[in-house]
Amino acid sequence: MRRMVAETRLHPANLILPAFVREGIDAPVAVSAMPGVHQHTLDTLRKAAVEAVEAGVSGIMLFGVPEDGKKDARGTAGTDPDGILQVALRAVREEVGDDLIVMSDLCLDEFTDHGHCGVLTADGRVDNDATLERYAEMAQVQADAGAHVVGPSGMMDGQVGVIRDALDQTGHEDVSILAYTVKYSSAFYGPFREAVGSSLTGDRKTYQQDPANARESLRELALDLAEGADMVMVKPAGPYLDILAKVAESTDVPVAAYQISGEYAMIEAAAEKGWIDRDKAILESLTGIRRAGAQMILTYWATEAARWLGRGRG
Ligand code: PBG
Repeated sequence: MRRMVAETRLHPANLILPAFVREGIDAPVAVSAMPGVHQHTLDTLRKAAVEAVEAGVSGIMLFGVPEDGKKDARGTAGTDPDGILQVALRAVREEVGDDLIVMSDLCLDEFTDHGHCGVLTADGRVDNDATLERYAEMAQVQADAGAHVVGPSGMMDGQVGVIRDALDQTGHEDVSILAYTVKYSSAFYGPFREAVGSSLTGDRKTYQQDPANARESLRELALDLAEGADMVMVKPAGPYLDILAKVAESTDVPVAAYQISGEYAMIEAAAEKGWIDRDKAILESLTGIRRAGAQMILTYWATEAARWLGRGRG
């Protein structure tokens, strides 16, 4: 009866797997703050993509981790056609074709030696407009490498419009933009910084949103839609379900939510201590995000949860 009358249903197709690929390693490296998550080699990334397809997951979001010594102030490795993210995009597309929507994080923080999402001015502030030029280049190289969707996550003003123009002008009219529209400056990104070997020392408060504010999210939404976002994302998910619900009510484009590294780490850590039932907590957290209005959920549990759902749980 409960199954029959359930108002919210999770389906493997709702899930998108974020995955890290690291240059210059020959075996996957465990991310200690995210038990079960690894920095992949190109080989293990291909396998993870195939497993995701087999489980019914609909997409994969790729993050590149360049080799030590390849980071610089401008994040050059992020626009190098042979940079790790572009190599990984080509490998995954070769492996899965169109069976998985292949997405790429479009941001400079993995590639800059200062760890910020953009290039800096002489006095060390993020230079919004100079960063837009870098994002336009990134969009082109990522699309050239086979991204079906690019996911601008740097929260620069005007990023979606610039990326749309760059894609259209380079013959990539069909590449979609999943905009990280609402992105809060969150303590829950902590484990991600280890996962991508981030060099950041300060914070991102000048370009990410203040957790105290809700209405600002609707302004971000209006701007991204006007600039051509095909899909919008709210991030983090769990602590911002009210925002997710507002965004979902306010737009008719598909809405995604990102259950981020810290949300993952909290459940894994509590489960490891025997304090909560891991699998139930995972499904409950995903159901809550779906109930709040997300059609797509980016989650590090995507493949595992999709397998359970395929067997009728959830
Ligand atoms: C930026 C980016 C971040 C995450 C996804 N894209 C980090 C940040 O903005 O600090 C975080 C994802 C997570 O914590 O799981 N490239």
